[in-house]
Amino acid sequence: VTALPDTPDPAETAMAAAARARAHVAAWTDRQTEADLRRRGGLKWSGTDDGVLGAWVAEMDLPLAPAITTALHAATDQQLTGYLPLHLGAAVGGATAALMAGYGWRVDPEAVHPVASVVAAARIVLNHLSGRAAPVVLPTPAYMPFLAVPELCGRELITVPMRLDGDRWELDLDGIRAALRPGALLLLTNPHNPTGRVFSEPELLAVADVVTETGATVFADEIHAPLVYPGHRFRPYASLTAETAAHTITGTSASKGWNIAGLGCAQLILPDGTRDRWERIDPVEWHGATPLGAVATVAAYTEGGEHIEAVVDYLRAGRDLFAEELARSLPSARFFPLEGTYLGWLDLRDTGCAPADVQQRASVRGVDGEYCGTPGFLRLNLAMPHHLVREMAERLGACGPER
Ligand SMILES: Cc1ncc(COP(=O)(O)O)c(C=O)c1O
Repeated sequence: VTALPDTPDPAETAMAAAARARAHVAAWTDRQTEADLRRRGGLKWSGTDDGVLGAWVAEMDLPLAPAITTALHAATDQQLTGYLPLHLGAAVGGATAALMAGYGWRVDPEAVHPVASVVAAARIVLNHLSGRAAPVVLPTPAYMPFLAVPELCGRELITVPMRLDGDRWELDLDGIRAALRPGALLLLTNPHNPTGRVFSEPELLAVADVVTETGATVFADEIHAPLVYPGHRFRPYASLTAETAAHTITGTSASKGWNIAGLGCAQLILPDGTRDRWERIDPVEWHGATPLGAVATVAAYTEGGEHIEAVVDYLRAGRDLFAEELARSLPSARFFPLEGTYLGWLDLRDTGCAPADVQQRASVRGVDGEYCGTPGFLRLNLAMPHHLVREMAERLGACGPER
């Protein structure tokens, strides 16, 4: 499926390489028809009825990074398909530390533990690395599985609705303060799915004050960190202060930015105080990261910089196109400014169309906000060719009282 761009010239300047990556990502993605995407066979399209646009699960229609396909070909040639070898686990630690250094966070590679997925990471944290007697506190709307995971781990869940200030979704600090207590765990997703917010440093510092004041801890899900648009800056929560470094366990992965969720390799980054507890966890609990996921992750984090910039560039243009087209086709819907991620968040409450009816009325499959804990809203995956972004916005016109 992935045509490799021309072989890079070792003497190519960084600027020329970036321009080449941008041209490749845009040309490749623009060329994809709906039939091509269905042939590719991913879940997003194979799980979507014929004639309906697939905008639900968080997979991208964009190409894989050439560095990743090269690394995967080499790994399969080498028949590296057994369990995760220690040297590859260590390589993931080193590559993750290198990525975090780019965000100004100095991470000890030995504090990085490869696990199968960020959701698996959250379960490990809930089951083994946080006080089981205290609640899990989750701002809503939220990534859907986080509404189920606490109960699956036998933990009490307290949801705290985010507040809307103008067009901006904000964390309700008073609500979070009231829900937290010593040992409680705040599930903090930044960049945020589904609102698309990239919380600013002052916002994160205000959260840190509340967490410190209440004696709680944080699981920081930063899986969307590479997908941040110009004008916004991602800061790893654990990197903010000595207190956040001590009270935070971070979960991250190359799986969203580089579109490799199926390869099974996320990273749990532990603070100093939890390393002994990690040693005591039965490996059965954390086993599951794969060698192919590890080589792809190392390639993404160490050689995938130009590609991710090109991806963000393409997604940003798609976001702007969608906003423009939707304002024409469905002005009664509200599309919130997307600061990061490719998951658009729409308020449909004034359209007269229930999110559950969108597929039937507009032939677009998104995610009903009810599954994110916030009825009346719709999450839409915008990581598709621009011609389909335009088509999706046009089709959504069928949801309005305007028609
Ligand atoms: C915020 C967030 N966390 C976690 C995940 C899932 O990650 P994984 O597949 O590594 O469990 C997603 C997937 O879309 C996500 O958006």
